Amino acid sequence: MGFQSIFRDGLFDGQVAIVTGGGTGIGLAVARELLSLGAAVAIGSRKAENVKAGLEALSVAGGKTCGRELDIREPESCGAFVDEVLQRFGKVDVLVNNAGGQFPSPAQGLSPRGFEAVVRNNLIGPFTMTHATANRAMIPARRGRIVNVIADIARGFPGMVHTGAARAGVDNMTKTLAVEWASLGIRVNACAPGTIRSSGTSQYGDDTLEFARRATPLKRLGTVEEVSRVVLFLCSDQNDYVTGSTYYIDGGSSLWGDLWPIEEPSPQS
Ligand SMILES: NC(=O)c1ccc[n+]([C@@H]2O[C@H](COP(=O)([O-])OP(=O)(O)OC[C@H]3O[C@@H](n4cnc5c(N)ncnc54)[C@H](OP(=O)(O)O)[C@@H]3O)[C@@H](O)[C@H]2O)c1
Repeated sequence: MGFQSIFRDGLFDGQVAIVTGGGTGIGLAVARELLSLGAAVAIGSRKAENVKAGLEALSVAGGKTCGRELDIREPESCGAFVDEVLQRFGKVDVLVNNAGGQFPSPAQGLSPRGFEAVVRNNLIGPFTMTHATANRAMIPARRGRIVNVIADIARGFPGMVHTGAARAGVDNMTKTLAVEWASLGIRVNACAPGTIRSSGTSQYGDDTLEFARRATPLKRLGTVEEVSRVVLFLCSDQNDYVTGSTYYIDGGSSLWGDLWPIEEPSPQS
């Protein structure tokens, strides 16, 4: 399939993974790598065409896959999705909460409804999917590995206050669930990508991506494969002493870089 993982063959043999938003971008890269290492992989998202295209892309690798429409904001949709995976594969070892989306907007121009919509998708959504997967599959089995894909929120998220707030909520949820579910055999971690060249950022345009590149110490954008590697490490059994952690994969942009042009204060009227 023209793709070489850095992990050993068979690392996920016999395991079952759900990747939300697994038909595109980062999610597809994660699904592909899990599949190549032996996992059965279920992908889901709102648009049937994304699920279909994802399954077609994954079919090149062979192995076990399934997919269906999924809206992580809706408890019934999440429950039906997990039930179908249980019917097909009998268990869920890994949940990668990758689905999400946002749009750039200065805070003062963002409507409260727009803020709420992104919080619903990027905070309520991951909780709803996690709740369904844990209660139906992981808690009964006393085993689970959950990785939440968030974003680089270390210095706030100027230009996208909605997703910054939502991802900070998931960052905190990661810590809470890691403690509450530690004795249930469930590890919960998060991965915080900086700006990654993917289907999700192609809509931002060259100028915005060049601005992000300049604001990154390593002076380049990340790749979906680089994010996938971190996600796979976090959800592998090789990582069993790490829980409640957030791993930044951002070329150093959480530490340095001009994220937002700050003008001289205008005189008060
Ligand atoms: N690329 C970056 O620089 C970057 C940086 C930080 C964080 N992230 C986050 O990483 C994740 C993947 O990003 P990407 O770059 O690969 O972008 P992407 O291709 O737009 O991926 C987002 C995926 O989530 C799915 N999705 C969105 N809302 C959903 C919902 N309510 N229910 C189910 N599926 C939903 C989308 O499919 P449908 O439209 O079919 O639902 C899509 O497959 C996203 O959460 C993104 O915000 C990306």
